Amino acid sequence: MTSIKVGIIGGSGLSCPNILKEKTEKTVETPFGKPSDVLLIGKIGDVDCILLSRHARDHTIMPGRVNYRANIWALKEEGCTHILVTTACGSLQEGIHPGDIVVLDQFIDRTHHRQQTFYDGTPGGPAGICHIPLAEPFCPITSQMLHDTAKELGYTARMGGTMLTIEGPRFSSKAESKMWNAWGAHCINMTTVPEVVLARESGLCYAAMGLVTDYDSWREDTASVNVESVMKTFAQNSARATDVLLKVIPKLKDVDWTKKLKENGDLVKGSILLPHS
Ligand code: ADE
Repeated sequence: MTSIKVGIIGGSGLSCPNILKEKTEKTVETPFGKPSDVLLIGKIGDVDCILLSRHARDHTIMPGRVNYRANIWALKEEGCTHILVTTACGSLQEGIHPGDIVVLDQFIDRTHHRQQTFYDGTPGGPAGICHIPLAEPFCPITSQMLHDTAKELGYTARMGGTMLTIEGPRFSSKAESKMWNAWGAHCINMTTVPEVVLARESGLCYAAMGLVTDYDSWREDTASVNVESVMKTFAQNSARATDVLLKVIPKLKDVDWTKKLKENGDLVKGSILLPHS
């Protein structure tokens, strides 16, 4: 069996370093610059894990300024095979409510100013140009396990959902929010893209729990999203996400990931165009 190492990227409200046993800190630098924060290295059960706070532990990095490339590169370089992430999000559809967990299976990209590839000629980065397929952006096996574990814990969880990622840091206008709703997106955040794209370029099994905090701005009978409404459900959502992570990660090592990881690696290899000689 291939051994696994799990990177955990904690979103807003989840930087809980206390979930790791035997914890040490490591500061790293990548060809793409510094990750958002130190890497917290330790174990959950007997699985090696690395926890990274997406916005830094003091929450000083806004979504458009997160160094997604450095974060994913650092986790891959440290030997991660999987990345599990949490992300606060708004609901864009009836039937999805604050407190729910949406395990993502698709995204729509409405970001504008973000680096989405490692293959851009950065010194120390990989050679060639990479056209990575993203029809299936998230790891279906890891995602299903996240979902099933959330359900076992009694939480309201939905398997599959399209995350619409906006540039931010502003929230959407009512007209935009109604359009996202009409497009069929299920939830909205500011960070899934390019994180999932870079994880796919790295051949990692990436799965994401959207932690719903608000109804964005599309609903006529509900106050539009603001920082206060988002913060209100943060604590409860992070406690639930922590429970799910603590329970699912020990289960991941009972799966043989050899085939899936080879499939991911082959997809990357087949997507790279090297310079003609
Ligand atoms: N994060 C949490 N709620 C959000 C919303 N409504 N829009 C964008 N990002 C969010």
